[in-house]
Amino acid sequence: MRLPRSLPGNDPVTPPMFGGWLRHLRPRSRENVLDRTKALAGAFQLIGWQNSLRAVRYAVRRTWLDRQLEQPSRTPPRVPGRLTGAEPVAGGARFTFAPTQGMDDDLTLEVRFLAAGGVFVGWDGARPTPSYALADFGSGQAPAASQDTTLAREGDDWKVGTGELSVTVHPAGGLTFRSGGDGHAPPLRQDLPPRWDGSAWTHRSTLDSDAAVLGLGGRSAPLDRRGGTYRLWNSDPGGTYTLGDDPLSLSIPVHLVVADAGTHLAFHDTSFDGTVEVGEQVVTRLSDGPLRYYVFPGPPARALDAYTALTGRPALPPRWALGYHQSRWGYGSESAVRRIVGQFAERDLPLSVIWLDIDHLVDNRPFNVDPQRYPDLSTLTADLAERGIHLVAIADPGVATDRRDPVFAGGLAADVFCRDERGGLATGVVWPGTTVFPDFTASRTREWWSRLYQTYVSAGVAGFWHDMNEPSSFAAWGDGTLPLSTRHDLDGRGGDHREAHNVYALLLNHAGFDGVRRLRPDRRPYLLSRSGFAGLQRYAGTWSGDIGTAWEGLRISLSFTLGLGCSGMPYSGPDIGGFDAHPSAELYVRWFQLASYLPFFRVHCAASLPHREPWAFGPEVLGQVRPALTERYALLPYWYTLAFVAHRTGTPYARPMFWADPADAALRWEDDQFLLGDALLVAPVLAEGVRERTVRLPAGRWYDRRTGIAHDGPGHVTVPAPLDSTPVLVRAGAVLPVERAGSIVLEVYPPGPDDEAGQDDDGAAGADDDLAPGGMLVTDAGDGFAEPVEERFTLGRDDDGRLEVRYSGPAGSLPYDVDWRVAPGRP
Ligand code: GLC
Repeated sequence: MRLPRSLPGNDPVTPPMFGGWLRHLRPRSRENVLDRTKALAGAFQLIGWQNSLRAVRYAVRRTWLDRQLEQPSRTPPRVPGRLTGAEPVAGGARFTFAPTQGMDDDLTLEVRFLAAGGVFVGWDGARPTPSYALADFGSGQAPAASQDTTLAREGDDWKVGTGELSVTVHPAGGLTFRSGGDGHAPPLRQDLPPRWDGSAWTHRSTLDSDAAVLGLGGRSAPLDRRGGTYRLWNSDPGGTYTLGDDPLSLSIPVHLVVADAGTHLAFHDTSFDGTVEVGEQVVTRLSDGPLRYYVFPGPPARALDAYTALTGRPALPPRWALGYHQSRWGYGSESAVRRIVGQFAERDLPLSVIWLDIDHLVDNRPFNVDPQRYPDLSTLTADLAERGIHLVAIADPGVATDRRDPVFAGGLAADVFCRDERGGLATGVVWPGTTVFPDFTASRTREWWSRLYQTYVSAGVAGFWHDMNEPSSFAAWGDGTLPLSTRHDLDGRGGDHREAHNVYALLLNHAGFDGVRRLRPDRRPYLLSRSGFAGLQRYAGTWSGDIGTAWEGLRISLSFTLGLGCSGMPYSGPDIGGFDAHPSAELYVRWFQLASYLPFFRVHCAASLPHREPWAFGPEVLGQVRPALTERYALLPYWYTLAFVAHRTGTPYARPMFWADPADAALRWEDDQFLLGDALLVAPVLAEGVRERTVRLPAGRWYDRRTGIAHDGPGHVTVPAPLDSTPVLVRAGAVLPVERAGSIVLEVYPPGPDDEAGQDDDGAAGADDDLAPGGMLVTDAGDGFAEPVEERFTLGRDDDGRLEVRYSGPAGSLPYDVDWRVAPGRP
């Protein structure tokens, strides 16, 4: 059931030949001409014929402009020669390499260890700042350096390190990273000397044959990225995508390597276009510098902790954002929204959020709510709030070039829009027609944009959806974005779209987050963004974008979300059922079930498609998806606790199987099942007609959550998977907080035979032995910034040897009912 390794259409070096909408014509062996033509017609239908004509005109203009673009003159190649010197600097050391042929100066290398873990590597004068990826980029401060680094010569090599990590610098510029301070552990990572060939940096690191490589942002690729090449250039896939389409909207230059020798995460902090080829080596090619990167040693949770200490902790969603979201492009009016909400109530179905797409706007124009169809947003949100439902509204960056549009007029007056190289307004084509684009790399633009949310916020709109922000412009061919020569402020440094493109959405979300936070200081901003860069997690979550409706799309949904989690973006999920077509009932059910175990749980689809609310496929299908909804809400205390864990440490809610044991190579390539927190193993059905499936168990005992049957790992089991359920196993010894009838109950799963081996130091089993890690519960008002209550549970045995739940938290003793699972009473 794994996704195939070879990625169609994934050319190793050059970017895709057809970008924009003609991308749909890219040859694929599996598709015939008719399918391709249909896809193209679908794309034109999606954007409308008027915008299609504009897209053709735009493509002509953009191609012409990009041809005029002055290419940076080729500079002589730069490659490190012999290592000639090393000197200590704060947090590490600076090394000097003699020039090689054609170079007239030395090449430098700076290695600096960070106080929060990990190490910075900067070649050829690269420093950590300025960088929009860093959590406090506004301060201009470099990340705090470690205090206790040592530098020593070892034969021809130099070794610099802390107690946690060391880097050996070889005479020709190769680097070896090792965990631990003594420098004798097996190499965690080995980098070859970098090379600037006159127009691009190439940076290689070797990969052990047992290594899996994950991350790189939101990708339509197998979970293990080996065997593919991934472009670092945020791109709108144009209404649909399938396996191997690359790049998509959210490239993050972060990869996680999991190998027998250890785990580490690497982050190349460069916003320019590039590719990452993952084969026998990881080859990162960057069209410009600086060549700077970070390496964070594992295990995975530790690596992500250090990475998110650097680039920002994931925003904490309000509790309601972990419930069920209902969306479609085209609810069309306030009364339609009320009707849908009423239908949820009639059927006694839970609903937390309803989404308004661009059809709630006048001519699709951001921040221009249609007064005819949405005459009274405040009353609507107030009525919804009575039922515990929140409203999220879309806000795209493309602003219609119409002086009657107050956003355009205000933006012109404040001079916030991107300009072309001659100083005119840079225009593109998006849903409203011809549009301009705010330059979010200027602080005055961010400030201006952050105030636009005012009307929505005072009308009680709870969250915002930032779409088309790659930024996307409809182009019949070529890149569907702004011309590369478009000017950007880059906070005073000045530059063009080549540098600004990949950070455009990041900075839009920065503005949005600050604005909503300021306008509603007592609540957490809730933002969802299609595009972004490293650091997006501190402002927003993301979703699959326009994933294609197909069983393959369902499988991509899982690797997409897990891959993002390994890139520091823990909160994401797919459009249930796929965006571009109507799914079969069975595909809908299985997609619904999968998403109910992913952080962002939303049904959404394109405007022309039939409705797909939970009842839309008839009573039988409603009966099949209802248990997924019920279970999602039962597990909310667990989900919310996972949200805090993600917020504090960067550890994703949904984790690849190797999280259970990174040293167990057998788990490394399991990409059709995953761990949800520490307690649950989810084995969704991802193929048609399947009514049972095999599950690979990590070591230890696992209980089938539905039947209570115990299975002992490591190994495989086959479990039933009828149409109305998803196989979920619970780790033995887990204490799982669930909600029943409005109260929290602790489900306790007895420890397995191996867990009973907990022994005192003298080898005798004792009454005080802690048997298992238990669980945790974090609670608060569900929103706001007050300190939450944190409670921990462990399993022990009382004086009579009976299992008991031990409590640590603010209440004097265990304040919750306990449901001893599996065995009746306490085993
Ligand atoms: C983009 C989004 C999609 C949205 C549509 C209209 O295609 O990815 O989710 O419905 O635009 O706003």
